[in-house]
Amino acid sequence: MSLVSIAREGSIAVVTIDNPPVNALGQALRQQLWDAVAALDADAAVQAVLLICAGRTFIAGADVSEFGKPPVAPHLPDVVARIEAAAKPWVAAIHGAALGGGFEVALGCRFRLALDSASVGLPEVGLGIVPGAGGTVRTPRVAGVAAAVDLVTGGKPLRAAKAQALGLIDAVVSGDLRAAAIAFAQEAIGKPLPLPASARPVVAPEAGFWDDQQAAITKRAKGEVAPLHALACLRKATEVPFAEAMAFERETFLALRGSDQAAALRHVFFAERAAPRPAHLGAAQPLPLRAAAVIGGGTMGAGIAAALRDAGLPVTLIERDAAALERGVTNLRAIFDGAVARGRLTEAQAAERLAGVTASTDYASLAGADLVIEAVFEEIGVKRAVFAQVAAVCRPDAVLATNTSYLDPAAIAQGVPNPARFIGLHFFSPANVMKLLEIVPTPDTSPDVLATGFALAKTLGKIPVQAGICEGFIGNRILKRYRAGAEALVRRGVAIAAVDAAMRGFGFAMGPFEAQDLGGLDIAFLQREAARATGQDVPETLGDLLVRAGRKGQKTGGGWYDYAPGQRKPQPSATVADLLADQIRAEGQMDGPAIAEHLVAEMAAEGQAILAEGIARQPADIDLVEIHGYGFPRWRGGPMFHAQNRAG
Ligand code: 3HC
Ligand code: NAI
Repeated sequence: MSLVSIAREGSIAVVTIDNPPVNALGQALRQQLWDAVAALDADAAVQAVLLICAGRTFIAGADVSEFGKPPVAPHLPDVVARIEAAAKPWVAAIHGAALGGGFEVALGCRFRLALDSASVGLPEVGLGIVPGAGGTVRTPRVAGVAAAVDLVTGGKPLRAAKAQALGLIDAVVSGDLRAAAIAFAQEAIGKPLPLPASARPVVAPEAGFWDDQQAAITKRAKGEVAPLHALACLRKATEVPFAEAMAFERETFLALRGSDQAAALRHVFFAERAAPRPAHLGAAQPLPLRAAAVIGGGTMGAGIAAALRDAGLPVTLIERDAAALERGVTNLRAIFDGAVARGRLTEAQAAERLAGVTASTDYASLAGADLVIEAVFEEIGVKRAVFAQVAAVCRPDAVLATNTSYLDPAAIAQGVPNPARFIGLHFFSPANVMKLLEIVPTPDTSPDVLATGFALAKTLGKIPVQAGICEGFIGNRILKRYRAGAEALVRRGVAIAAVDAAMRGFGFAMGPFEAQDLGGLDIAFLQREAARATGQDVPETLGDLLVRAGRKGQKTGGGWYDYAPGQRKPQPSATVADLLADQIRAEGQMDGPAIAEHLVAEMAAEGQAILAEGIARQPADIDLVEIHGYGFPRWRGGPMFHAQNRAG
């Protein structure tokens, strides 16, 4: 199949790559590019070559699906070198994104042009590898070492204008990219050419630069190895000749490509891309989403409203009375003000987000909503009463959703006319930041309404995972097992701080006890108490003992740990040791890795039960829930991937 075509515009050859969906550089494309260079070199009528791509984007990189297999020639570094050494200058014309190997091909071209909407980058570390076709060796020669370190070790793409400012792009154009690039190439013909990237000098940074970077990246990476290897490649590029640095980069790339971390990150890469379009949705059609409403302006309601506004949807916010409404609007304003303070929004954008919110205590304002998301108190009576009011005023086809954490959405929907439009949409706190959305259909939910949940996730930039109905759905159910496992270790004599340190060592930002102190121990306690009040046999947890002693976490000055006033640093607590003394058996210690493996195995075992019950549809969904909702280290692939790899 022809993935590369060549056309003529006078003395300019236009090489077009057409390899949908993202022009990834699989073996066939590499071969055809190689052949195109040879053919054009031999063509005396050609004075310059334009490299452009069909479809939604320039080359998005190497073909990640080839990474599990042995590399087959021609290898990408050779293709890039061939382009760089071509007898005619090559001009890359970039639209969409030039990423990874795609940007490395562009760096092999003598000139790079980009549409103003384009971006370029070297995101390889996100796949557990380093650039493998000269990205770490050419980038510092083109943009300087500091910019190269940011680009390669951070992995974040740059917008065209920023890339131009750094010298990575020669010209930014708008409108017709092909025409602009042909004009640019025409202009370049006959003029002295800039040095190819490989021939440019690289300026070594000041003393101490590498040590500082090493320290900062080690801290940030929390066990992820690719960013440090990327730094080592960049350093090498400043210390040895080009060819030697290329060999070092290639060796590192090939070694990492076969690593466990890279396999885990590839698993997550493909799981994330598959999540928005599960096959079982079939031909179901999402309903139009033009206007949304949120009931309850507390922690979750305000966050959900902000997420909806960030996606450009007009939002009606309903609260139970004027004072609560005032608080709800204040919560929303605080979210947008925070975004301004962090430089994510301008004052004007924040004002526009807020202006798109209609705040009211009158349910009649819901009449125009296509989607209503309830985020009121976690009490079934309150939620049912809310939906009775909502159903009385909404269109009969408006989608009605609950953000409940633990209640049964089907039970909440009882009494709602047309329950086919009812669904659980479980957001995570802060709802405008966290990427995960658990989608919980009831037995009555229609396929189109289910598809609407997935469409909403796409609109909001979230990762959707479908969950069946059980207490805690997927994520909170696994969290409960994780916490119980952690408490069981403490009962066996493992120190609280040792458990937290072990989970940090594994790659979590926080251990289970520190996290509870931050979020508050009382929420789970109250839930257990409510279950006990209905006669359920809920065993007393260690956390219950702490809450009964007034230790609810940081907000009360202590929970599992003590906190100095105004401080967030956990200090092991003698009071807690006393409170729990008669619960703890001195059975001995476990080392950090053993603790972490034990607790992750607990998560995976719960995940297995969840799969067996049909609550989750596939192991990768559980991995996405843990990574995007609970801070499971991405580079470990999620608990199911991790458990399977250890077993196999
Ligand atoms: N290899 C193989 N398949 C890829 C791919 C890649 N590099 N990039 C994307 N795809 C596939 C996706 O899996 C998806 O497939 P599907 O339709 O079968 O599910 C399809 O292309 C579309 O992808 P998206 O849904 O992500 O499309 P978007 O339009 O939302 O985004 C994009 C486009 C920004 C290019 C995004 O796909 C992306 O970020 N891709 C990955 C870029 C990347 O990581 N490149 C580096 C690769 S490693 C490398 O180049 C090594 C080199 O240094 C040697
Ligand atoms: P919250 O207490 O911060 O907010 C609840 C809001 O609902 C309050 O502002 C209250 O005034 C309002 N409200 C109560 N009754 C109402 C009524 N009849 N009409 C209109 N508004 C009413 O609670 P939070 O944390 O926001 O939780 C809300 C829901 O989201 C709960 O079901 C909770 O289980 C769920 N949830 C909470 C998460 C969290 O991390 N806090 C995460 C995911 C879901």
